[in-house]
Amino acid sequence: MTGTRVLVTGIDGYIGAVLGPRLLEKGFDVVGIDCGFYRDGWLYNDPRPRPLTLTKDIRRITREDVEGFDAVVHLAELSNDPLGELSERTTYGINHLGSVSLARVCKEAGVARFVYTSSCSVYGAADDGLERTEASHPNPQTAYARCKVLVEQDVGSLADSRFSPIFLRNATAFGASPRMRFDIVLNNLAGFAWTEKEIRMTSDGTPWRPLVHVEDICQAINLALDAPREAVHNQIFNVGDDEQNYRIGEIATIVGRAFDGCTIAFGRPGGDNRSYRTSFGKIRRHLPEFRCSWSADLGAHQLRELFEGIQMTNEVFSSRAFTRLRQLTHLISTQQIDTDFYWRHFESYRGNGRLS
Ligand SMILES: NC(=O)c1ccc[n+]([C@@H]2O[C@H](COP(=O)([O-])OP(=O)(O)OC[C@H]3O[C@@H](n4cnc5c(N)ncnc54)[C@H](O)[C@@H]3O)[C@@H](O)[C@H]2O)c1
Repeated sequence: MTGTRVLVTGIDGYIGAVLGPRLLEKGFDVVGIDCGFYRDGWLYNDPRPRPLTLTKDIRRITREDVEGFDAVVHLAELSNDPLGELSERTTYGINHLGSVSLARVCKEAGVARFVYTSSCSVYGAADDGLERTEASHPNPQTAYARCKVLVEQDVGSLADSRFSPIFLRNATAFGASPRMRFDIVLNNLAGFAWTEKEIRMTSDGTPWRPLVHVEDICQAINLALDAPREAVHNQIFNVGDDEQNYRIGEIATIVGRAFDGCTIAFGRPGGDNRSYRTSFGKIRRHLPEFRCSWSADLGAHQLRELFEGIQMTNEVFSSRAFTRLRQLTHLISTQQIDTDFYWRHFESYRGNGRLS
């Protein structure tokens, strides 16, 4: 909404890189915060204006940083299950404690709305054929998903007449973003289909996974910022579309069809027991304008056009910059970040231009 002041954490990530320009176009007054873990990766140029961004860790955000904002959209976390396994302690430190302390600071500073990007992975192992709703009991399987549940509970308990948290449980994202991720299922399969003309599944492809395009996640965030308070106050919403609960094998077939000459091979039943189908009726009831504009098929074609346009090479596809776990592992092994994932200071690179 024109003039609404919004702070977006994690704006330099996959979702944030699409959300920032979109909110500016819609007339929001946007500022970003990000510590910049993935700034090495920029897949293609988006000429639209980007919000001014402060380089800062969310664990060090103070009241002064958030004062004067009408809303905070909080994306900055370690953003998938494998990252959570890299360091469970740091995952809790950033994703759980960091997010709750940010929400407290926002409440103290008088920020009225706090939009949190949770995940459908809170449903975890749910392979009984029943669709999960927001009222279903979560069954998180990983540190990442357990943190999402804890943040929902702890930040939910801060809700009052002046502070409205909103929890968006996004399905697994797909689609083009300049700050691309190739570690999420559809984008990953599309990358293989383009570079190798072959999708080799390591599992039998039977687990269920709801999908949602990154642009549709941004639409949900935009609507959550605009909605009347009573429609969203302290509510949890699954973000996606009932038509877009796919088995992973189906996603592979859809992607394979979008890339000429691509073959698909399935493996054995895998060790990953995460499987869930999700119901997306509630968001449509509370935010009636919300409609997913993208399907897996459209997303696969979008990526094929993008890869053709930039003539994406295997080297780019397999670069660490586009796989969150590999980039963080690199930053740790080169000691650019410490064991708590804070950037180390390289004082010797400053000053007189000589290394000491
Ligand atoms: N992409 C998906 O499929 C998906 C699905 C459901 C939920 N989500 C959630 O949406 C949010 C954004 O996801 P994404 O795909 O854009 O992730 P991403 O990893 O691409 O981006 C996260 C951004 O946050 C920043 N960040 C991480 N820790 C930080 C810290 N301590 N301080 C400051 N900045 C920090 C990173 O530098 C990065 O730019 C995450 O919370 C994620 O869990 C994503």
